[in-house]
Amino acid sequence: MDAKALLLNRHSQPRLTYPGPTDSQLDAILAAGSRAPDHAGLTPWEFVVAQDEGLERLGEIYFQAAQADGAEGEALARARLLPTRAPMVITVIAKVTSHPKVPTVEQHLSAGCAVMAMQMMALTQGLGGIWRTGSYARHPIVREALGATGEDEIVGFLYLGTAVKETQPRTAPALNGRVRHL
Ligand SMILES: Cc1cc2nc3c(=O)[nH]c(=O)nc-3n(C[C@H](O)[C@H](O)[C@H](O)COP(=O)(O)O)c2cc1C
Repeated sequence: MDAKALLLNRHSQPRLTYPGPTDSQLDAILAAGSRAPDHAGLTPWEFVVAQDEGLERLGEIYFQAAQADGAEGEALARARLLPTRAPMVITVIAKVTSHPKVPTVEQHLSAGCAVMAMQMMALTQGLGGIWRTGSYARHPIVREALGATGEDEIVGFLYLGTAVKETQPRTAPALNGRVRHL
């Protein structure tokens, strides 16, 4: 897939199965993430890769967060299983440092760009992925367990694997009313 086709056809795959990324595919995915635009070279991101037992550890973190929120029964059990919806989940944390020229929002944006770059690298390798957040991304128990402090932000859980059923990109949103020329 050439770069133009990739940019025009990027899309998510919510239903994912095995195989997940191989080691070399993962290396390429992480390398693409670390190519994200980065004001002042702060590399304001951390990639936390979960597969195999790592997915269980992430599920346990969600479970503890759900339990703390008073979830019970099926809802509680579901929390533990959420990360197992894909063979791999990469948590992307915007790691913010104080800088006179680079406000927090720019560091969050850099980390967000990394998520999309990684999703696109997955696509080029015949894999699928979806960028998720949800309430767990902001939950204090999840933040602490994954090492997000202060202005850090969990900007995404990138679920990666093989698409259960290859879906086509949705129709691109119309640009009407979204573009102005000065
Ligand atoms: C910051 C961010 C968080 C998102 N969180 C979720 C989520 O928690 N669950 C979900 O189903 N989609 C989430 N999405 C949307 C999907 O990643 C996806 O973009 C959307 O389903 C549209 O599909 P497409 O990427 O194929 O156009 C999120 C997107 C962004 C940018």
